[in-house]
Amino acid sequence: MNTTTTLVSPSLLSANFAELASEIKLVTAAGADWLHVDVMDGNFVPNLTIGMPVVKAVKPYAKIPLDVHLMIDKPERYVEAFLEAGSDILTLHVESTTEENLRQSFKKIRASGALAGITLRPGTDLSSIEKYLSEIDLVLVMTVEPGFGGQSFRAEQVEKIRQLSDWKKQGRGQYHIEVDGGVTSETCSACLQAGANVLVAGSAVFRGEKTEANYRKNIQALRP
Ligand code: DX5
Ligand code: ZN
Repeated sequence: MNTTTTLVSPSLLSANFAELASEIKLVTAAGADWLHVDVMDGNFVPNLTIGMPVVKAVKPYAKIPLDVHLMIDKPERYVEAFLEAGSDILTLHVESTTEENLRQSFKKIRASGALAGITLRPGTDLSSIEKYLSEIDLVLVMTVEPGFGGQSFRAEQVEKIRQLSDWKKQGRGQYHIEVDGGVTSETCSACLQAGANVLVAGSAVFRGEKTEANYRKNIQALRP
């Protein structure tokens, strides 16, 4: 697993939902590496977004990996469905279910050939995910409270990135370190310096004109 290059995963939450296919084409042509899909159930977080049918519908337009972030209670109920819909990376919240369900879900995800990810709310201690490090391929560090795009970056969460990077150097696992929430051209450097290699960005990528040139400029502003 190459975790040294910086990858940008634009969050479709900030795209125009009425034009998803065209937004995906534009942002892919503009240099996006992955496409971040925020799935919310109105229960685990106080917002509702999209589910498996939309993932399935956009899959043919996505020539790059679909990076699906599940913000739903008891995600094990839908793991197979999200894999079948075309998720290439499937990330579950540590707070959303039991240890046993998380472990079984990670196994299922990996067995399908997809990457298994774990994530945590800003208020959750990093020690809660430590025991899963050898069972996952990605850790998503939330730098805002999950639920909405366009919030401000919580700089105190960068310490989690540093710790994850240290654990990785100590051979505790091989995983991408992805950061999500309030990532902009100003806040991305601290994340990259601390050891993150995947940047999720919604508003910072999809703002301004809906053109390949503008999205390219927005994505390039995040790269080191
Ligand atoms: C928040 C989502 C994020 C969000 C990021 O719950 O997980 O992916 O869309 O949006 P920005 O980059 O605008 O903070
Ligand atoms: Zn997300």
